[in-house]
Amino acid sequence: MEMNGRYLVRTYGCQMNEHDSERIAGLLEKEGMEETDSVEAADVIVLNTCCIRENADNKLYGQLGNLKKLKEARPDLQIAVGGCLAQKDRSIIQQRAPHVDVVFGTHNVGRASELLKVSQKSGPITEILEESEAFPSALPVKRDAQHAAWVTIQIGCDNSCAFCIVPAVRGREISRPFGELIDEVTQLANSGVTEITLLGQNVNSYGRDLTLQVRKEGLPDNPEDLVGPAWLAESPKVRPLFSELLRSVSSVSGIRRVRYTSPHPKDLRPETITAMAEVDEVCEHLHLPLQSGSDRILSAMHRGYTADRYLQRANEAKKLIPDLALSTDIIVGFPGETEKDFEATLEVAAEIQFDNSYTFVYSPRPGTEAAELKDHYVASDVSAHRMQRLRNVIERSSLRNNESRVGHEEEVVVEGRSKRDNEMLTGRTRHNRLVHFASKSIIRAGSYARVRITGARTFNLKGELLEVTATPKHKTRIPVESS
Ligand code: SAH
Ligand code: SF4
Ligand code: F3S
Repeated sequence: MEMNGRYLVRTYGCQMNEHDSERIAGLLEKEGMEETDSVEAADVIVLNTCCIRENADNKLYGQLGNLKKLKEARPDLQIAVGGCLAQKDRSIIQQRAPHVDVVFGTHNVGRASELLKVSQKSGPITEILEESEAFPSALPVKRDAQHAAWVTIQIGCDNSCAFCIVPAVRGREISRPFGELIDEVTQLANSGVTEITLLGQNVNSYGRDLTLQVRKEGLPDNPEDLVGPAWLAESPKVRPLFSELLRSVSSVSGIRRVRYTSPHPKDLRPETITAMAEVDEVCEHLHLPLQSGSDRILSAMHRGYTADRYLQRANEAKKLIPDLALSTDIIVGFPGETEKDFEATLEVAAEIQFDNSYTFVYSPRPGTEAAELKDHYVASDVSAHRMQRLRNVIERSSLRNNESRVGHEEEVVVEGRSKRDNEMLTGRTRHNRLVHFASKSIIRAGSYARVRITGARTFNLKGELLEVTATPKHKTRIPVESS
């Protein structure tokens, strides 16, 4: 059966999902479909969903409600729901929204186009797998940005944070073989990508499964492909692989910036910090999720570190990597969080002076340990007030850190025209700060430029262009490719 016409993929949630959406788009383009950003023009609409917090759930069912009329008017329109919420809700999706044609989960993203074809013939279908067998085999990827790319190094999560639904919907941790990652980065660099972000739920435990496999079962046929040359050369073979990976992807010719997200504070190893400090390409930016500054709450969350340990690691990193930008994730109102616990979080935030923080009000997720603690839920007005106080502390340090850049020269990668002011361009510094600067001439997205910082606000910087130092290699959009 043929698929043609236009598709639209709408993505919710984290970069994992963004990346899966790029793979879904790649599959549909392989079938001959074209992308559209108009819901009305689309023949296939894929909602790639998230369930990390309750409002993510509500958003999906709201969206599906909106699409119902469209489907009634155009019965040929196909609606597919994939991603984490699909993995969690399974058949409930088609019970609540019978106009959905296809439901697929996180372990069978590669089946998206096949399932759409099946449902054209035989009607609505839900297919959810319990677990990924191995790392999903290479799928076509349609990359969104031309100069920057995400590279998924690991799927799933072996931790059991009491608040978190990710392990239930993404499964156990599976790392991608080392050699395959280097090949993918090389291929990306050859097509003009200069910045990569290594992605995983717990990136610094990358390779734990691979090295364990070697220690248990002995060396496979092509050991370098599995664990890389540096690890193999070492004896005894105990070193973690993540720092090797950072070094190896950084040495791929053409790669100028390397980032990664997210590391877990309990697994942040000295080798990773040393690699960050020693390797020029690795950006001076560490996103290290704190979650709480109270030891009591950290323990109830099963995070595996204390506030002191976190501070110690963050301060060590700051010492070894001069000019390091630190960002974090914090949850307020975890069940049982007292005023004193919350104040401990404020204290850690004030001490570290984060550049930025994603802050979340705790949201109970079905099946997680914390969701059972109903008697200890924090009242929503208390959480909202704490959130405001936390935001004040975070925004104060964001502003102060941004102000400290005024007068500095920074390297930025140009992202495009500013949304608000057409005369202005926006770029990203190595610290991941957004800079607006004026330019009369057209500078293509993906160019590197030197900018002097002339002003600071809480969420961005202002600068003046000094010179363009590099322009992108690619001339056209990167075509669909295998990765
Ligand atoms: N693997 C990453 C986080 C993935 S989820 C890590 O461990 O750092 C991204 C963030 O969402 C988490 O860091 C946490 O701050 C937040 N989060 C996860 N579950 C949540 C919940 N139930 N309620 C509120 N925030 C949550
Ligand atoms: Fe969730 Fe914790 Fe795993 Fe992060 S490390 S995905 S917060 S369980
Ligand atoms: Fe959401 Fe799934 Fe990511 S739950 S945050 S899309 S791993």
